[in-house]
Amino acid sequence: MQSTKTEVTQFAKDVKTGLGKVPKSVPSKYFYDEEGDRIFQQIMEMPEYYLTRCEFEILEKQTKNILEAADTFQEPFNLVEFGAGDGFKTKLLLNYLVENNADFTYHPVDISASILQELKKDLDESIPSLKVDMLNMDYFAALHAMKNLNERRTVILFLGSNIGNFHYHEAADFLRKLANESKEGDMLLLGIDLKKDQKVIVDAYNDPQGITAAFNLNLLTRMNRELGADFRIEDFSHYTFYEKETGEVLSFLKSLKEQKVSVSSIDREFQFGKDEMIHTEISKKYSLKELETIAEQQDFEVINHFLDSKQYFTDTLWRIKK
Ligand code: AVI
Repeated sequence: MQSTKTEVTQFAKDVKTGLGKVPKSVPSKYFYDEEGDRIFQQIMEMPEYYLTRCEFEILEKQTKNILEAADTFQEPFNLVEFGAGDGFKTKLLLNYLVENNADFTYHPVDISASILQELKKDLDESIPSLKVDMLNMDYFAALHAMKNLNERRTVILFLGSNIGNFHYHEAADFLRKLANESKEGDMLLLGIDLKKDQKVIVDAYNDPQGITAAFNLNLLTRMNRELGADFRIEDFSHYTFYEKETGEVLSFLKSLKEQKVSVSSIDREFQFGKDEMIHTEISKKYSLKELETIAEQQDFEVINHFLDSKQYFTDTLWRIKK
């Protein structure tokens, strides 16, 4: 993905704040440059990264049940998707809706115009009769835009356990804003990774081929290229652990020695101790009970949890209560 000037400036600001703090951190949204997108595709194909396959199985085997439970065949509606990506999983739903004559427009939301263009091109070819109207903005602007789209009911898709990259309180805030910007009867289909045997989870974020490590370390390469930093990649390593109680996988970049790194675009030098960490990502796993609590607290009614055969993942369907 090509970064715009505003994104680079915001990146510089976030790096200045994040590396200036104790403990150091950089937001995980900066993983996704062109190389990061490419490595993430590889992650989704790894045998250890079960999340994508489990969600695909749910959407493939339970399409009809999910879409009927979301009342998508009753009246015209908007289908809004946050973080649409390549549309690989969503196409299962889109195809079913089109084949069964549902009256809807698909609104993929992404801050990257190029990702949206590619998705639109692909959908125009693969599902020519689909109505697509892209929302090229961030999630919060899209939440606001959603309200003014039209009078129709909205079904929101937020798949792929992307909400797991928020801390619990941030997820709760996001859901609250979403509920505030929604109309009565709007629905949310939320894809979330579930708590499970910890070995399964740990392996998904620490694969032996080093693909996840390359994904994490690419953040240093991006800072070098876009912000004029001089990180020596070989002096850092990928480090991750799972906190069973909170359900959080926490990922870090660990400094392998005492060293100084300068970032020329912000005119700063940062000191690293041996084994000092930069926190880069949280991937939170939920229990069904926790999901029910957060839904209830943020004014949603849980309609159903759709689970895969291993019960590793859920696409949970909620209705906005007004
Ligand atoms: C995008 N997100 C839901 C992924 C996750 O599982 O947290 C990103 C990822 N990080 C390491 N592996 C995959």
